[in-house]
Amino acid sequence: MKKIVILISGVGSNMQALLEANLPCTIAAVISNRAEAEGLETARRHGIATAVVSHKDFADRESFDAALAGAIDVYRPDVVALAGFMRILTTGFVNRYRGKLVNIHPSLLPAYAGMHTHARALHDGVKIHGCTVHFVTADLDHGPIIIQAAIPVLPDDTEHTLAARLLDQEHRVYPQAIRWLCQDQIEVDHHGHVNFRSPRRVGNTLISPGLE
Ligand code: GRF
Repeated sequence: MKKIVILISGVGSNMQALLEANLPCTIAAVISNRAEAEGLETARRHGIATAVVSHKDFADRESFDAALAGAIDVYRPDVVALAGFMRILTTGFVNRYRGKLVNIHPSLLPAYAGMHTHARALHDGVKIHGCTVHFVTADLDHGPIIIQAAIPVLPDDTEHTLAARLLDQEHRVYPQAIRWLCQDQIEVDHHGHVNFRSPRRVGNTLISPGLE
């Protein structure tokens, strides 16, 4: 059975979705860069080993990433899942976990890489927003895309309501992506595109606002 380590910084609702998805793998540990991350308690309640590597204890990104890698490698994971992990990782760290490191990002990448995705989507007046599970590469938020979910932006949406509605979909697609990874369903081709080893179901069309 493959092993996963999950990295968090805060609430950890995506982590919780992974813990409760009955995945065909062992969730070996949850590691946070913040001792006060609420998700650590949730992980402990699920009987998962936890560790804290605080970025504040290190002078630079390189030394923090080296310590983080040390904490991760104790578990020899096949997959390292970033779930609301709010630190930018060095190229050295990303390359060390090449093909194993995945992230969930709250936008339909390549649109809205970076921070404040919901506010930026609302500011631009887009009618469809979404989230993306992707492999992490040195190019921030631009690694090979595994799965995306799209939701309509509603006329009275605020950053808060849009984020909350999207989070529900994040909790559906992240476990699916990890399930595929654990089942060896995914490969990345020389274009940097994710292909599936066996055919997948076609998703649904979303038109927003709806047709009359
Ligand atoms: C999620 O929207 C995730 O996509 C983003 O940060 C948020 C974390 O939420 N990277 P949680 O900690 O998983 O609840």
